[in-house]
Amino acid sequence: MNTKSFISALLSVHFIFAFSPVIAQAEEASSKTKSREEIKLTRTEREFLLSEMRDFLEAVARIVAANNSGNMQELANAAQGVGLKAHKAALSNPDSIVHIIRKKTPPSFFPLGKATHEGFDEIAHIANTTADSKQINTLLAQNLQRCVACHANYRISETP
Ligand code: HEC
Repeated sequence: MNTKSFISALLSVHFIFAFSPVIAQAEEASSKTKSREEIKLTRTEREFLLSEMRDFLEAVARIVAANNSGNMQELANAAQGVGLKAHKAALSNPDSIVHIIRKKTPPSFFPLGKATHEGFDEIAHIANTTADSKQINTLLAQNLQRCVACHANYRISETP
């Protein structure tokens, strides 16, 4: 085998191994997409919701790290930031983007989101009172189930 054909053989093997998982993933993703209910939002509304989501994930990361190091003040701050109380102003304003989005989502969507925010308030409360690390972990695990449940059921598509 000359060098050129050796390299091309090597590349084709790499090609198959490198890309078959990607194809498998894409197929899996598309079959999962079909079963999720579509929520149609404008670009601004979608961006708003997704940025709230990234705040959720960041809070979870901070809570896990803070619980691990026993830093209850940091844990409470992280949890409070994504709590319902922190969203009070937006919720009490009927013209806020939160309510515009609410009206476009199925009836079960917002209660689940609200419960997730409340779950973080509860975690902050424990951090500020008993500081029971194990209970915080239990509450966080329960709250993560809400993330999982919602993600399994809904997806967002962008409409003008
Ligand atoms: C009430 C429903 C709901 C809940 C509860 C929820 N999410 Fe989401 N999340 C969504 C939807 C809808 C999307 C967009 C999914 C799509 O379009 O494929 C999303 C997307 C995301 C994304 C991607 C953000 C981006 O920039 O693309 C992250 C990260 C995320 N969620 C984290 C979380 C975490 C962490 C929690 C729990 C603490 C959570 N979410 C709870 C509905 C929810």
